[in-house]
Amino acid sequence: MHGKIVKIFMIFFILVLCFQTGCQKHTTQLQKNIVPEIKLGVAIYKRDDTFIAMLISNLEEEIKKGQQQKNIKITMNTVDAKGSQTVQNDQIDKLIEQGCDVLCVNLVDRTVASAVIDKAKAANIPVIFFNREPVAEDLQRWDKVYYVGAEASKSGYLQGQIVVEAYQENPHTIDKNGDGKVQYVVLEGEQGHQDALLRTEYAVKTITDAGIQMEKLAGDTANWHRSQAATKMTQWLQVYGDKIELVLSNNDDMAIGAIDAYEGASKPLPAVVGIDATTLAIEALKEGKLLGTVKNDAQKQAELIFMLSYQLVTNTYLQEDIDITKQKYFFTEYTMIQPKDVLKKSE
Ligand code: BGC
Ligand code: CA
Repeated sequence: MHGKIVKIFMIFFILVLCFQTGCQKHTTQLQKNIVPEIKLGVAIYKRDDTFIAMLISNLEEEIKKGQQQKNIKITMNTVDAKGSQTVQNDQIDKLIEQGCDVLCVNLVDRTVASAVIDKAKAANIPVIFFNREPVAEDLQRWDKVYYVGAEASKSGYLQGQIVVEAYQENPHTIDKNGDGKVQYVVLEGEQGHQDALLRTEYAVKTITDAGIQMEKLAGDTANWHRSQAATKMTQWLQVYGDKIELVLSNNDDMAIGAIDAYEGASKPLPAVVGIDATTLAIEALKEGKLLGTVKNDAQKQAELIFMLSYQLVTNTYLQEDIDITKQKYFFTEYTMIQPKDVLKKSE
């Protein structure tokens, strides 16, 4: 009996020892930086973009929370390029000149990341790109470069899945003319944006892979924009009228624009699907105007941007699984939102 107690005690002792050395290893790995203040320089492609506006206001909240919890001054200087890369280049030069600790960049043109990285590297300021993903080679240019976003193909897949589920439940709710095919139009995001092409491709692929025949009537870019989408949709409505059975939209703002066009023309709505889960889209879902959307997690992306920034500047972990030494890409999950989800929540 006595021997058993001794044994248990020894095992416990060894465990405590292992745990302690594990912790020591961890703290010695990180040389904590004592900083009086953390300054984030944030460059956005356009504030007049619902998703970006959501992300920025979430980031502001994260900073407020972070200041209270960490008892340290954290500031954020946000500059809006209003859709011009030339303007954004100047703004980034100024942010570097004024001295910030981290640059958080939502590029206007995602192909020019290398110029931004070179400038930041010369000033030794780490860069976190977000939402507009630079090409892979650019991210390899320097070790202090990261990307926060979400995987476009997954949102396309989930958007397609919403259509598949509705069709399988009752084909006639979508295939209104009953010809066994879904006549559809696509409202695309900005050309060259990683989320535009891939969302369309994977949404269509998911639906056809489920054995549903698709017939494309029209497709064009509306640059993520509600009013541009409404204009496009009004034109298509004049040409195709009630032949259109499905509107695949690369984001919610354009899906709402499509709904605007139908309401403006006093026509019954076809199935409309979006991506983002904006406040307006959730309203439209509740009102039965939108068949579904896919949540693009602006809150989680803001948290990641904040955590990475904090970690880069102070050299302390805020969350163990955020390992900047092993990872450059930080992706959030997309989730499917159907009427049953929002109706359930509001009950
Ligand atoms: C969002 C769009 C937004 C775009 C801006 C996308 O990820 O889904 O709503 O307009 O990013 O870059
Ligand atoms: Ca049909």
